[in-house]
Amino acid sequence: MSSPKFIIPHSHTISKKDRQHLNNHNSLIIWFTGLSGSGKSTLANKVEERLHKMGFRTYLLDGDNIRKGLCKDLGFSEEDRAENIRRIGETARLFVEAGIIVLTAFISPFKKERQAIRKLVGRNEFFEIYVNCPLNVCEHRDVKGLYKKARIGMIKNFTGIDSPFEAPVNPDVEIRTDKMNLNDSVKKIMKGLLPKI
Ligand code: ADX
Repeated sequence: MSSPKFIIPHSHTISKKDRQHLNNHNSLIIWFTGLSGSGKSTLANKVEERLHKMGFRTYLLDGDNIRKGLCKDLGFSEEDRAENIRRIGETARLFVEAGIIVLTAFISPFKKERQAIRKLVGRNEFFEIYVNCPLNVCEHRDVKGLYKKARIGMIKNFTGIDSPFEAPVNPDVEIRTDKMNLNDSVKKIMKGLLPKI
């Protein structure tokens, strides 16, 4: 492999600021983290819809377009999850450079990887949303039937069962999806988010 020190970046005429200026808004990463079945994708989807209708340029990264494409070679070991999140972080960073508001919905169970992404972008360009829902509620919902499979050992390293989830300590917004309905949750997120864009 040739050394990255021989990769010399080319300076582009059009900057992130130029792209943001054209779009008329800031770009940032809206990072949803939480257990499987906590409601990340549902919330991210609604927030994107709200932003889009308001005229913001957005894109949503989630399991459907990432784990089936860019990360289809990865599983759920600690190393693979770390690599999954690293790739998603780098992809999200490119969207920020492109002047787009990028929403991501992944379990992203490890603090270290989430912190690394926060450091990849500017101070006001990472907005973390902790989609907090107790394990027993997620397990009861079992939307995809995966908790049942994990309990009987058909799926290994399942987050919350035999693989850890490290909750964010100081998220920008925390949503208890077992206590708050979708509409109120979206309102709470928008209230925290809009001043940043
Ligand atoms: S992450 O840990 O690397 O961030 P990611 O969000 O991409 O996970 O994928 C999680 C989704 O994959 C879950 O919602 C679930 O549908 C599915 N899945 C399959 N196997 C596992 C597993 N062992 N642990 C967690 N989720 C799994």
